[in-house]
Amino acid sequence: MTARATTAELIRAKRDGAALSEEDIGRLVAGIVDGSVSEGQAAAFAMAVYFRGMSCAECTWLTRAMTRSGTVLAWPDLGGPILDKHWTGGVGDKVSLILAPVVAAAGGFVPMISGRGLGHTGGTLDKLGSIPGYDTTPDVRRFQSAVRDAGCAIVGQTADLAPADRRLYSIRDVTATVESIPLITASILSKKLAAGLDALVMDIKVGSGAFALSFQTARALGESLLAVAGDAGLRTTALLTDMSQTLGHHVGNALEVLEAIEFLTGARREARLHAVTSALASDLLVLGGLARDGGEGVAAIDKALASGTAAERFAKMVKVLGGPADLVEHPGRHLVRAPVELAVAPETSGLITGIDARAVGLVVAALGGGRQAIEDAIDPAVGLADVRGIGERVGRDRPIAVVYARSRGAA
Ligand code: URA
Repeated sequence: MTARATTAELIRAKRDGAALSEEDIGRLVAGIVDGSVSEGQAAAFAMAVYFRGMSCAECTWLTRAMTRSGTVLAWPDLGGPILDKHWTGGVGDKVSLILAPVVAAAGGFVPMISGRGLGHTGGTLDKLGSIPGYDTTPDVRRFQSAVRDAGCAIVGQTADLAPADRRLYSIRDVTATVESIPLITASILSKKLAAGLDALVMDIKVGSGAFALSFQTARALGESLLAVAGDAGLRTTALLTDMSQTLGHHVGNALEVLEAIEFLTGARREARLHAVTSALASDLLVLGGLARDGGEGVAAIDKALASGTAAERFAKMVKVLGGPADLVEHPGRHLVRAPVELAVAPETSGLITGIDARAVGLVVAALGGGRQAIEDAIDPAVGLADVRGIGERVGRDRPIAVVYARSRGAA
């Protein structure tokens, strides 16, 4: 198939349901990066894809072209597989903070590019932003040397990784075209391929705290990601995990870093958080050739936690990226804590039978711990601690949660 003569022809073809060629897509992506494709044209293209979809081949070409639109990282001579996890967003989910050092302790290298939270969901980058001195936006050299030294580094997206996605995503964000499975697939995978990964595990969240994904949509997204990642040569698995309640005990940025540290050191481990982290990390170890099967993967994870090696990797990552060297030993000295604590206890006792996890996320955002627009500042100190889960008993002496707020009024 030959390339369409103009961008308008290409958009018309997709609007009318025709398949695009690899050349069409390559030219469009080049134009998105150099600005010769206007914002209006990129938006029209995204809307045409939203309604008409894309074949797996078209989506792979889009993914590849967006990957090559900027720097593609290489990791020569590290002596282990390059692995990462991506999740679709939720409430109280601090799995990335735990999984990256666990996988590093088991022999992998994890260059994790994370995002900020929006609306009801938390972002890994905001959580790390509560660690004084931690550089969430290092240049590529510092990022690469942190991965080499600590085995893992969690940072924000740099301007030179997949710049085509950066521009297209910002246009999709304001033109109601985010919720397109081929566009989401290409967006996620182009950034992962640009990070130079050998293998990826996707954590697709389902339930009241996830982005508006029905079970069917989550499954379709997983299938699309697996098909395109397979075509692009990236070993990938996808798990659908439960977000019908918050994950772990705490929700809020500094509180979640504290929980991740307590998990890594063994001071306290919430069972669901443990199960989800183990399932994702063991898949990664198998994909990366560090374990023969899931059982061996789980054993390697348990060893990384029990030996303290995973906690050491986390401590090293924090130190090499500019944070306090003794954060793991003395988190209370460094993580901010909101001045007002208010335990929320019901008048009568009972069992928790359901949680609107989205509403929990919105409460934390309203306290100042989240944002409505991506440029909003957030307060790392606020949040909800010890949020009880489904099936747990609550009463006058067993609060549903403890609110951490800046003032009594806010609490
Ligand atoms: N996350 C991404 O990185 N891209 C999308 O399109 C949606 C979610």
